[in-house]
Amino acid sequence: MRLRRKKNRDTRFERCAGLALTPEPSLKDGFYDIFGRDKKLEMEIGSGKGGFITQCAAQNQSRSFISVERVKDCILMGMEKAHAAGLDNIRFICADAEILPSVMPEKCADVIYINFCDPWPKSAHAKRRLTHRKMIKYYLPLLKDGGEIRFKTDNDGLFEFTLEELTELGFDLSEVTRDLHSTDTPNIMTEYEKRFSDMGVKIKRLVAKPTEATYKILSEL
Ligand SMILES: C[S@@+](CC[C@H](N)C(=O)[O-])C[C@H]1O[C@@H](n2cnc3c(N)ncnc32)[C@H](O)[C@@H]1O
Repeated sequence: MRLRRKKNRDTRFERCAGLALTPEPSLKDGFYDIFGRDKKLEMEIGSGKGGFITQCAAQNQSRSFISVERVKDCILMGMEKAHAAGLDNIRFICADAEILPSVMPEKCADVIYINFCDPWPKSAHAKRRLTHRKMIKYYLPLLKDGGEIRFKTDNDGLFEFTLEELTELGFDLSEVTRDLHSTDTPNIMTEYEKRFSDMGVKIKRLVAKPTEATYKILSEL
């Protein structure tokens, strides 16, 4: 997501600094000091302006949430939303998904949300898609046994690619829909989701649980 550099970015960041986690290996060691081990943890990778994940946190105070976004001006907007709402069950990591296994412990998350990730339509760029096996290999180790990935997109090509990729990787797929808003699935809209559904684009969604085959295939990559 391209954004103009925010005015007074550093001062504004400082104001919400208590919600930021520094993406360094030491974070891994102290990770459970933040929320403890008992609560369910949900995380969104590529959370943009953070509307979705902060609403999730506001509506589910008994769970903990992590927002991961690599663009500082975007993550700042999520941090400011959480700060304004006085939320203490959410933290923000400004980093690329690729470094997550070196800064977060294995098997810490119950749910990983991938919402409206960049579709990278050219096949030469396919490996940059967050649902490409190369990217999944980075963040899947964070998922607890029995955990799941929840994926939404407006993009038909990306949805079909993702279905194929996850099927080939042996994921157990459920709740597959090409028109989420016509179902009665409880849903919190993201910023991109609002924008595309206002334009009449149907929102696609699926839930994916890794199986033993998934881990075997990814370990051989
Ligand atoms: C199209 S936006 C969607 C934002 C939000 N999820 C929504 O639905 O409104 C995708 C976001 O993912 C972020 N992103 C893309 N690749 C990423 C990566 N490898 N690691 C972290 N963030 C990434 C981008 O910076 C961008 O903000």
